[in-house]
Amino acid sequence: MNIIGFSGSPRKGGNTSTLMKEMLKGAQEEEIEVTYIHLPSYHIQGCIGCEKCRKDKTCTQFLDGMHLLYPLIEKADGIILGSPTYNYTMTPIMKAFIDRLYPYFDFTEERPGSYTSRLAKLGKRALIFGVCEQLDEKEMYYNVNVMKQAIHVVGYEIEDSLFFTGHFKANSASHDEKDLLRAYEAGKSFAQSLKD
Ligand SMILES: Cc1cc2nc3c(=O)[nH]c(=O)nc-3n(C[C@H](O)[C@H](O)[C@H](O)COP(=O)(O)O)c2cc1C
Repeated sequence: MNIIGFSGSPRKGGNTSTLMKEMLKGAQEEEIEVTYIHLPSYHIQGCIGCEKCRKDKTCTQFLDGMHLLYPLIEKADGIILGSPTYNYTMTPIMKAFIDRLYPYFDFTEERPGSYTSRLAKLGKRALIFGVCEQLDEKEMYYNVNVMKQAIHVVGYEIEDSLFFTGHFKANSASHDEKDLLRAYEAGKSFAQSLKD
């Protein structure tokens, strides 16, 4: 069993990274193999809609860091996606990452038509979280909810989603015992759910 945590924060060592690492620590407690991925380090290009992947079944437009991630995604039993809230939604790098999962879809010829994902029905699960400065979690509606919906459609059962509010400075979460514990516990229960 293994879990990959994908952090969509450009700020290394910021709140998303702190909370993600705490979740992975909780998962590790359950003797699950964990990997932390800082998405900006993979220089992922944004999808340009060339649609070549409909035929090629992978992205043949960009030979970038996403090709290091595809094999890890296929192997992982669980993924955690975490993104800071930028203007009510996820960061551009998290959006680029999710868009680049498009090659996993198989589409029918007619348009608009139905589609299925090759990542579906494999028992893969996801845990989703967002971080924001404001105190009201409604401030990150598009962030967490869009990540949830997009990842569900690509084949993951959503185990849980969390909203971490009130974090502005980069080191804010690392001083928040309550949120650190929430993150740790969420990672641990996510790992337990994968083992069940
Ligand atoms: C460009 C930009 C847009 C932001 N937009 C929002 C927002 O819409 N709502 C909010 O509550 N916080 C917003 N924030 C604050 C960040 O979500 C917050 O500082 C978060 O803790 C950053 O996470 P990080 O430390 O992992 O990078 C924004 C920050 C930036 C840089």
